[in-house]
Amino acid sequence: DKAQIGVTGLAVMGRNLARNLARNGHRVAVHNRRRERTDELMEQFGSEGEFVPSYSLRELIDSLERPRRIVVMVKAGGPTDAVIEELVPMLDREDIVIDAGNANFEDTLRRESALAERGVRFVGTGVSGGEEGALHGPSIMPGGSASAYRELEPILRSIAADVDGTPCVTHVGENGAGHFVKMVHNGIEYADMQLIAETYDLLRGVLGRGPGEIAETFREFDRGRLDSYLIGITAEVLDHTDPRTGRPFVDVVLDQAEQKGTGRWTVQNALELASPVSGIAEAVFARSMSGQVQLRQAGRDLPGPSTPAERPDPEQFVADVEQALYASKIVAYAQGFNQIRAGSENYGWNIDYGAVATIWRGGCIIRAKFLDRIRAAYDQNPELPSLLGDEDFRRALEQAQDSWRRVVATATSLGIPVPGISAALSYYDTVRAERLPAALIQGQRDYFGAHTYRRTDVDGVFHTEWAGDRSEHEA
Ligand code: 6PG
Repeated sequence: DKAQIGVTGLAVMGRNLARNLARNGHRVAVHNRRRERTDELMEQFGSEGEFVPSYSLRELIDSLERPRRIVVMVKAGGPTDAVIEELVPMLDREDIVIDAGNANFEDTLRRESALAERGVRFVGTGVSGGEEGALHGPSIMPGGSASAYRELEPILRSIAADVDGTPCVTHVGENGAGHFVKMVHNGIEYADMQLIAETYDLLRGVLGRGPGEIAETFREFDRGRLDSYLIGITAEVLDHTDPRTGRPFVDVVLDQAEQKGTGRWTVQNALELASPVSGIAEAVFARSMSGQVQLRQAGRDLPGPSTPAERPDPEQFVADVEQALYASKIVAYAQGFNQIRAGSENYGWNIDYGAVATIWRGGCIIRAKFLDRIRAAYDQNPELPSLLGDEDFRRALEQAQDSWRRVVATATSLGIPVPGISAALSYYDTVRAERLPAALIQGQRDYFGAHTYRRTDVDGVFHTEWAGDRSEHEA
């Protein structure tokens, strides 16, 4: 009997995806460049379902029913290209290659069109949820042709996370759309993590609470509207005691956050699309800053606030911080979804934003109750220009804003950095502003470079003779 699907690349993500497929009744051919990994999988998990071990890509291909479906789960970049290059000459028209790694969507665009020339269908898919998700049900974000998706859909639905009977998988759009949406997912993940980290830092710095107490506060948050995977694991990390020293784990870990690049890609792309994602950008920069050892060493001498600021009432402050976190989260998601919209329009993907919110409700790292509300917002108005304009979110922001401002003011007066929370508040106030100082910038540009400007009262493009008699004429 031929296998229904093949997986090449059996590191933990690939192995767990293969196991998930097998556990859900699919016959799975498995392959890894180093055969020990294949043997290991067969020994440890071979009884979980029907696996067909293959010791070369040729064998893998020969063991598959047609059109073939092959999941490539190797490192993004060069290694993915290498596997695809080796695979393609052995494939037939209509076969489907599925790249389930964290690929850059630009690479996916390139690969999709190269394979399309040979009649091979390419599905670049985002898969979120880490190791556990891959095994028990990830959120799956496939891009590629609708025909390829239709054929994969039953398999993907069977292995995806499930929320209230709805599997967390949808056809995001053609070619690079899936990896694009996964990229923005990760950008939002960075922003979410940064906002939570700032909240922790505030509770510690302003109220002098310990990690264990703060874990309890996050557990309380997790029982309310902030209910999410990331808040839950935050409480667990904060509660963890280092077995070596008996000290809180967060106090013995080096405070330099690393990153593998997806957050940076999100911001790079947002710059290309001129789609402001200040919350995500601050989160990426905050990680970079944390790793700037020399800069931080040099900065340690800089003076902080000279007059000791008043400490707020603890109960009030905890409530304020919850509001600030929620409001900032709304802004981060609003920015991320606007980037998805900008990408969809720019690359012609026709992405259904509500469907994206729906498949993020389960399986992925940013899964949260909150996504139900985003889905509802897009259900009500699929063309919503910003989540900030949704009636529910508007009300939440209205309720949160005084707290949000107090939190930023307190942080500022005590000298505690809150780049994420304050950037979110600035974005909010920018969106609200009736007039922006951009008018002055236009004046400056026109002054030094005759770059011209438009007026509020008359149509046309104008220039002022700044160096001369300051008369204005139409450009
Ligand atoms: C997911 C995660 C996953 C990965 C992150 C980590 O959705 O399952 O996003 O893809 O763990 O990309 O990213 P950093 O190493 O950049 O923090």
